[in-house]
Amino acid sequence: MSNQLLKENPIAVFDSGMGGISVLRELLKVMPNEDFVFYGDSANAPYGTKTREQVRALTFQHAKNFFEQGCKALVVACNTATTAAVRDLRLMYPDIPIVGIEPAVKPAVLSKENPTVLVLATPMTIKGEKLHRLIAKYDDQANIIPLACPGLMDFVERGDIDSDELEKYLQNLLSIYRQKNIDAIVLGCTHYPFVAKKISEVMGNNVAIFDGGAGTAREAKRRLQVKGLLNPRTEKGKVYFENSSSDPKMIELEKTLCKMKFDDIELNK
Ligand code: DGL
Repeated sequence: MSNQLLKENPIAVFDSGMGGISVLRELLKVMPNEDFVFYGDSANAPYGTKTREQVRALTFQHAKNFFEQGCKALVVACNTATTAAVRDLRLMYPDIPIVGIEPAVKPAVLSKENPTVLVLATPMTIKGEKLHRLIAKYDDQANIIPLACPGLMDFVERGDIDSDELEKYLQNLLSIYRQKNIDAIVLGCTHYPFVAKKISEVMGNNVAIFDGGAGTAREAKRRLQVKGLLNPRTEKGKVYFENSSSDPKMIELEKTLCKMKFDDIELNK
């Protein structure tokens, strides 16, 4: 395949389900002229409560399929799959840009002197060595509290980003942290930006919320640029929405979340 052809090929974006759409939205802002294949693995979701081996096997399989289809790069828009598999994926495909996502701990820590930072993520991300190393790097500058949120992604998978049930779940999860003077919350799972408004309401609106999606999108663009793989065309690209679930509603939900306007909460990027 010539380099020219490769430049015109799509970028694969993958998550266990709807969460990756929060990253796709940022990718579309910085690379509107690219084509994207978005793949949500909702049939196998959630990933965060599976074993590391299960998540690795699923991620390797999806990556193989994307590259066989000719995708020129892969954005692993899932913190859990990044934790479990991205290092090895890069060894398997050294010539292809592969970008993962990690919780935005650094900007949250640097947002204030000695802040108390709550990191919300799936059980696997919270247990993972990657997050422990990230926390160790900054724990002399902040009080960092990791908190596993099993079940939170399921609300977003159902398209529920605003119900009383969701509010009850968040009250149960977060009420004890309201007395701990939390300065910043890091959304360490790509599903959570869709419920950021509710999280903010439950925690009190002056807690700053950090999400890694925009940083990941900028990094993906930088990596494509370095390799000379940005699409040179000037017209808008296309997004191909795919999902492993046989329920056609899942692809509809991907499209809805991708287009939805969120004007009521400003995430720190
Ligand atoms: N969206 C995913 C993440 O960023 C995982 C959610 C899940 O499947 O548990 O970690």
